Amino acid sequence: MAVNLRSEVAVRVREERWIKHYSSSHDILLVGEGDFSFSLSLAMAFCSATNIVATSLNSYEELIKNYKNAKKNLAFLEMLGATLLHGVDATKMKIYPYLQCRKFHRIIYNFPHAGFLQKEDHPHLISMHRELVCGFFLNARSMLWVDGEIHISHKITPPFNSWRIEDLALNCSLFLVECADFRIQDYPCYNNKRGSGSRCDEPFPLGKCRTFKFKLFPNSTTFRTSQNIFTFLDVGMTLLEHNMIRNECYRIIGSYLKHVEDIFGSTSDAGASEDEAELSDNILLALKYHELMDRRKNKG
Ligand SMILES: C[S@@+](CC[C@H](N)C(=O)[O-])C[C@H]1O[C@@H](n2cnc3c(N)ncnc32)[C@H](O)[C@@H]1O
Repeated sequence: MAVNLRSEVAVRVREERWIKHYSSSHDILLVGEGDFSFSLSLAMAFCSATNIVATSLNSYEELIKNYKNAKKNLAFLEMLGATLLHGVDATKMKIYPYLQCRKFHRIIYNFPHAGFLQKEDHPHLISMHRELVCGFFLNARSMLWVDGEIHISHKITPPFNSWRIEDLALNCSLFLVECADFRIQDYPCYNNKRGSGSRCDEPFPLGKCRTFKFKLFPNSTTFRTSQNIFTFLDVGMTLLEHNMIRNECYRIIGSYLKHVEDIFGSTSDAGASEDEAELSDNILLALKYHELMDRRKNKG
């Protein structure tokens, strides 16, 4: 009987299981957890947490003091095989010893927030939130598997939309692949927390919120060779379908072309240059750009 039960549990653990965007076959890093109820929600769905590294900025002692369910949630996660790390700053996490050589398929930060220091619409607080998100992106981007994704769940109503997290992501060479409605009922066990101040164990009103999913631009560390530029253009063309960043794409491609022209001369006097190969690449680049613009015009 006991053997049957054990083998049934083993089979269940081996089966791939999904909860919303997350699979038991993903290596998942969670950052900025409150009472660890979101991590637990994933672990319960997977019947295991061996693929989960869950982290908090708070120390273990602070968590136990601040959140009534933290001790129980952490014990449960540990039992299911999670790796639990405390005192992890999302803006410096890539140098944290355990995380230095790790790569993940999903890196999740739900409702990043720098603290209730001023009114939410105060420009100084907004820039603190943006610095936090930017620091998180810069660290998370080097901890992703090639096809990995960074997920941020975030409120989309004012003043939260003024954080402009898609722009922050673009500045970190990350592009938006999807922006899905976030519904708390998709994650049984999850209790969203304010996360700081004397009411840190209380929930905050979620209102309209979304899960923003970002990926790395291919070869985003270097755009030196024309091959990389073409890859970038291809990605750009896919992104054109996406209204939110279409204009940003044109701006980047446009400024790149201007830079190319500044260095090698305009594509119309291509024959005057000595480096034929480089210039023919530039002509191809220009052609591709014009093709892109035509498509845009045709789309109206
Ligand atoms: C609004 S709470 C959200 C908590 C939790 N993610 C949730 O969804 O319930 C914001 C969280 O960000 C964490 N945080 C703030 N600054 C951080 C940093 N530099 N690194 C990691 N976490 C941070 C806080 O400790 C807090 O847990």
